Amino acid sequence: QIADSLFIINNFAREYFTKTLFETEEGRNVGLSYFEERGFSEEIIQKFQLGYCANEKDTFVKTALSKGYNLEYLQKTGLVSIRYEQPVDNYRGRVIFPIHNQSGKVLGFGARILVKSDRAPKYINSPENDIYVKHKVLYGTYFARHAIDKLNECLLVEGYTDVISLHQAGIENVVASSGTSLTQDQLRLIKKYTKNLTILYDGDAAGVKAALRGLDMAIEEGLNVKVVLIPDNEDPDSYVRKIGAPAFREFVAENKQDFILFKLQVSMRDAGADTQRKSQLVNEIAETIARIDKLEDFTKQQDYIRQCSQLLKIDEEGLVNLVNKYIRERM
Ligand code: CTP
Ligand code: MN
Ligand code: MN
Ligand code: MN
Ligand code: MN
Repeated sequence: QIADSLFIINNFAREYFTKTLFETEEGRNVGLSYFEERGFSEEIIQKFQLGYCANEKDTFVKTALSKGYNLEYLQKTGLVSIRYEQPVDNYRGRVIFPIHNQSGKVLGFGARILVKSDRAPKYINSPENDIYVKHKVLYGTYFARHAIDKLNECLLVEGYTDVISLHQAGIENVVASSGTSLTQDQLRLIKKYTKNLTILYDGDAAGVKAALRGLDMAIEEGLNVKVVLIPDNEDPDSYVRKIGAPAFREFVAENKQDFILFKLQVSMRDAGADTQRKSQLVNEIAETIARIDKLEDFTKQQDYIRQCSQLLKIDEEGLVNLVNKYIRERM
């Protein structure tokens, strides 16, 4: 089985990179001090099985080959590639974030460069293969699932380090989309644990845009979506470190916004006094509200209609009619 072989290689690599991090001089001086500078505790580094890949051409691949691992499969995992007919380590000089599936097996890795560079990407991620299918994975599910279950809520952030920092701050019901836009498969994965999704994205234009993109999809999946915008130029990782865990929790609790109302406010701000854009906006909102399953969630739909008509300063009955029109179109 290719899949089994890839899991076995990833597991070997994970162990190898953790050993390099803690037990070699370079690992401690470079990798471990990097994590420490970021404020990661040793406990959290161990928990997330973080690692370091030596900054040399082929230290890892040589060890792997000497232990009998297959070169072709090593390439499939993305750990190794061939340069000038020689196998070389792809993650050299980078800190390693293993990506686990729901039962803790390693699907792949994110490897972060230590010093910002114009010539190399910040993260190198595993390529898709028999076990790593990017659009089906959310980083952190293995560590978050019990907390998500218990709190009946899932927080969604953008990055690996956001998940890790929030865990360290005692917020464990959190997973990351790893920088890509949310997919239907990822939403279904969340739905296995809870119907309540809270998106914590950057407050900048890109973050707002990314948050908006997920809306209609999430509603169709029947999720209750809330949004918290993190202040500009911060992400959950930097912000929790800046203000501390208790203040961060308070910030999240106080700034949770319902997704539809969030969308409406953003669009209203964009539309300004432009009446044509406003009427287009009314149509969009009606269409979104129409997506809520009426039988399942009749009161919710009514609530939205009331709140949106107030915000938009339009007649409630008019909005009801418009919503009904879209419901009929969808049937
Ligand atoms: N990402 C990626 N490749 C990049 C940049 C980002 O795969 N070149 C993904 C990573 O999963 C990353 C997420 O997008 O965690 C969010 O990107 P960003 O906010 O730029 O990174 P951070 O997670 O904040 O990482 P750091 O704090 O280490 O800069
Ligand atoms: Mn980003
Ligand atoms: Mn951003
Ligand atoms: Mn960050
Ligand atoms: Mn970030």
